Amino acid sequence: MRTPFIVGNWKMNLTLSEVNDFLKQLTDKLPDIKKVECAIAASPIFLESLTNYCKNSPLKASAENCFYKDKGAYTGEVSPYALSDMGVDYVMLGHSERRKYFNESNKSINKKVKAVLNNHMIPIICCDETMTKQKHDDHMDWVVNPVSEALKGVSVSDAKKIVIGYEPSWAIGTGKSASVNETQEACCLIRKTIDELYNDDVANQVRILYGGSVNDKNAQELMQQKDVDGVLAGTASLKPKEFLKIINYIK
Ligand code: 13P
Repeated sequence: MRTPFIVGNWKMNLTLSEVNDFLKQLTDKLPDIKKVECAIAASPIFLESLTNYCKNSPLKASAENCFYKDKGAYTGEVSPYALSDMGVDYVMLGHSERRKYFNESNKSINKKVKAVLNNHMIPIICCDETMTKQKHDDHMDWVVNPVSEALKGVSVSDAKKIVIGYEPSWAIGTGKSASVNETQEACCLIRKTIDELYNDDVANQVRILYGGSVNDKNAQELMQQKDVDGVLAGTASLKPKEFLKIINYIK
């Protein structure tokens, strides 16, 4: 059984006082972690506040990116070793905004995936149909490449822990989410890819999330699909009331 997983991705938003105010509003309102796991992905400047809060809460802390080296002369980069030491649980990798604005490649994402796992955190690997240059007759074949590239050299035991986000870039921040059928089709293809790369035991354990204009109206139906284990919410995670509605979808 895969525990549903809901991640709020704050991106480059909020200030420290807004973060603290947001977290205060979540207190005692989070779902039972055995039923639904929740995380917030935040900028490194807020991770100390977030991880401190998470010590006394079922909420999990995620970074939005990191470098693939633990330490050294890499000005401006964020160390996975330091993130782990701070108590960060997850690191989002390969978000389409990172690929678009910061030239993230499948190769560098693969190095980051290994660095995150080596530091005992879990990568949330994001992919969508724009992330492969391979052309296929079948329009849904696109996703095989970014997933298999990201997981190159990752062991079976590590692969079981990872989370994959299907985030069509055309749905991000546009207010137009993928349909329920499109989402299920893509998440099913991702699971099949994991099965082919590893085996059905791994494929059945990996959690696959949908992201792109998720809100408190569409989240529940998307999450009810067989291969959709949760959602990644951007804009809707910036308002505590809306985020609380999404994460408390089980009455
Ligand atoms: P929006 O929910 O704003 O579309 O952003 C989605 C996203 O990028 C989650 O990682």
